[in-house]
Amino acid sequence: MSRYGKHNTALQTIGMSFYNMPYESLLVSKKQDSIFVDIFLSICTHGSSSLFLLLSLFSSLYLVLILYLTFTKSFFFFSLQRGYLQKQKTKMVAVDAGEVQTQFELKYDRASEIKAFDEMKTGVKGLVDSGISEVPRIFHQPPDIVGESYVPSATQFSIPVIDLQGVKEDPSTHTEIVKQVLNASQEWGFFQIINHGIPLSVLEEMKVRVRRFYELDNELKKQFYTRDTSKKVVYNCNFDLHTAPAANWRDTVYFDIAPDPPKPEELPEPFRDMMVEYTDRMMNLGRLLFELISEALGLNPDHLVKIDCAKGLGHLCHYYPACPQPELTIGTSKHTDSCFLTVLLQDHIGGLQVLYENQWIDVPPVPEALVVNIGDLLQLISNDRLVSVEHRVLANSIGPRVSVASFFIRETTVVEYMSHFQQKGLDGKSALLHFKI
Ligand code: OGA
Ligand code: NI
Repeated sequence: MSRYGKHNTALQTIGMSFYNMPYESLLVSKKQDSIFVDIFLSICTHGSSSLFLLLSLFSSLYLVLILYLTFTKSFFFFSLQRGYLQKQKTKMVAVDAGEVQTQFELKYDRASEIKAFDEMKTGVKGLVDSGISEVPRIFHQPPDIVGESYVPSATQFSIPVIDLQGVKEDPSTHTEIVKQVLNASQEWGFFQIINHGIPLSVLEEMKVRVRRFYELDNELKKQFYTRDTSKKVVYNCNFDLHTAPAANWRDTVYFDIAPDPPKPEELPEPFRDMMVEYTDRMMNLGRLLFELISEALGLNPDHLVKIDCAKGLGHLCHYYPACPQPELTIGTSKHTDSCFLTVLLQDHIGGLQVLYENQWIDVPPVPEALVVNIGDLLQLISNDRLVSVEHRVLANSIGPRVSVASFFIRETTVVEYMSHFQQKGLDGKSALLHFKI
């Protein structure tokens, strides 16, 4: 059906059929001239009474025709104009989305829409499962963010990949790796690692478990849906849902896993027989990375581990459902991580980008690789030698995408910092600014 409705389409069709007719056919055609000649001849032969009858017949036919044309033509132009006006309106949406966005903001009660959405406890996945074909307004990012998001990413740079093969066995390889870690952590704040010691099968299995959690029955999943961050298992949609200017197209289940892990029975079923192994392997890898980073900073290899940088660990298992209008929203707004170090497992979908020299660079998925990035706290304690770099995740029409971000933290010293980070949300500014003197 036309955007102007059935009725107007019909009018337009009528109007159009007249409008498209050759001008002469609307008047009296040459062919009809010859009919006139025929009639004239017939009058001459049949007398004046039939002449009168025919003249009145013709004049009334003409009257009807003229009235009909005037009527339909004026309707045709009227409907054309309506269409034109509507197009102008649509144009305004497309060209000046900022203005329309502001109008929307005024017209809808964002807080209560968010509250209603949050109370459903089924996150973005719940919306997608219900069959929505449009991204709800609460997820619409401001136009500058969205416009910026979907320019093609720069391809002249690529984030460093560091091969950890032989890091413990061969001294010269070790030295070379430390050098690469230093360069990447100073330059990029991001790098990928391969041959890191965690078997591919474990990584693959963890992604399977994350998908399985999100595919659980809603009633089972809802038991973990909470905004109480003192819990060991926190499942929700956007930790900053109620404060952020626009929601992200992402659900997350968070596990506060070390130093005090939840009991296995406290874990959602899909993670129960998997979490201990994944965590142990991640802790070992974390210790290795902190050793390398310590050396890179000219410290004793055990320095960062000794000050407990690798003591606390949290896993953030993200789920980015396929998005019907990815150009309107974003998976994760740009941010830096609020920890010492993050080790990220991502699947094959892609969408993670890092800001480098003021350009967004893709972090390409590599099945056996893990992504490592310096967090705010490591930037802080390294006096800015190592950089905590902004990154984000684009929404995608294909999906779901899953990722597991393992955050190394030291809880006792970050209480104040974290509460500031939680309260400010992903507002595009570093949480460190608040703590700088
Ligand atoms: C994060 C993060 C990226 C991803 O959890 O802080 O940046 O790919 N995640 O999910
Ligand atoms: Ni992050």
